[in-house]
Amino acid sequence: MPPASKELVVAVIGYTGGVGTCLLKAMNQIHLKPFALVRSTTMRVGNDSDDSPVDFASLGERLLEEASKTNGGNAVPVIADVTASLAVQKRYTDWLRAGISVVTANKGIFAGKEANYQALLAASKEGGARILHETTVGAGLPVLGTIQGLVASSHQIQKVEGILSGTLAFVLGQVAGGKKTLSQAVKDAKFLGYTEPDPRDDLNGMDVARKAVILARLSGLTGIELGSMHIESLVPEPLRICSMDEFMKEMHLYDDELAKRVKDVEDSGGRLHYAAKVDVINKKVTVGLLSCEDSHPFNRAGPDNMVAITTNHYTRPLVVQGAGAGGDVTATGVLADILQCAYQ
Ligand SMILES: NC(=O)c1ccc[n+]([C@@H]2O[C@H](COP(=O)([O-])OP(=O)(O)OC[C@H]3O[C@@H](n4cnc5c(N)ncnc54)[C@H](OP(=O)(O)O)[C@@H]3O)[C@@H](O)[C@H]2O)c1
Repeated sequence: MPPASKELVVAVIGYTGGVGTCLLKAMNQIHLKPFALVRSTTMRVGNDSDDSPVDFASLGERLLEEASKTNGGNAVPVIADVTASLAVQKRYTDWLRAGISVVTANKGIFAGKEANYQALLAASKEGGARILHETTVGAGLPVLGTIQGLVASSHQIQKVEGILSGTLAFVLGQVAGGKKTLSQAVKDAKFLGYTEPDPRDDLNGMDVARKAVILARLSGLTGIELGSMHIESLVPEPLRICSMDEFMKEMHLYDDELAKRVKDVEDSGGRLHYAAKVDVINKKVTVGLLSCEDSHPFNRAGPDNMVAITTNHYTRPLVVQGAGAGGDVTATGVLADILQCAYQ
């Protein structure tokens, strides 16, 4: 029988941000009232009438105290981190060890050094607390939970492939069939607000690579570090350290190279995508342009994120597809993780 659901005592860190605002709205929809609200400099805890300066040690203590008083002590303290802050992530191990579950949309630590990631898992075990981060890959899409469920139920994961950047999916969609040059597609993406302020932060593939590390670790691979992976950047080498204006002006000089690759792949009946590929069998993770034959699910992804998981039982991959960014979908994904913490 599954364990019974417990009451939750929740602190939201980053409540004023894009995801945080949507998270409060979603919590309100299901009548889950946050116990504490924290932003970069101030916090308000319980029935305090005023904000006080942020004090993460005190936040943890207050949450534990409240959980011990709630429902005869049968409540679960949870911290939901919807910031991009390293300072907040540094607190995770202490909170977990103390028995506070952590739910987060912040991918930093999960894609960082494996030793730090392992320390986090060890702290979670020691404190009997959950650490859940579904929204660090594919926002609200059920990607990580699906992989964990497959592993736990004896599937052998063979391969995980993912289109994990909406921006790069848009750009590759625009250059497909020679519709546009790479430079024009990037300009259009920037104009439409689909890119980071400097589009090179999308085109260098680092965000996809971080998600690939997370997918690899959850698929059971060890020894995977960002620094030792092959990551193909779409930023031409000579334009990697110049100013953004210069990059935008000069990018067109390098259009032909990608146009030729697109044409070669399409002439042989396939399509080119920018994807992460976790090859569990050969213990290899690559990030970059991936040539996909006509039948590959990626050719039907459109602007969505898509993750295709191949296992010994799912020899045709199990596919998860949908919007891979956005405040509401990310916030509801965070909320789903918070609710998971009620079962422990
Ligand atoms: N948006 C998406 O589609 C999406 C998808 C998946 C994952 N995510 C992740 O979700 C997280 C939040 O993204 P966002 O777009 O909502 O960010 P955002 O709008 O920039 O909001 C950041 C929030 O974090 C707070 N904050 C910053 N530093 C802090 C600190 N040291 N201590 C406490 N609070 C701090 C800010 O408080 P102040 O108001 O005081 O500055 C603000 O409330 C990021 O890690 C992002 O990568 C986003």
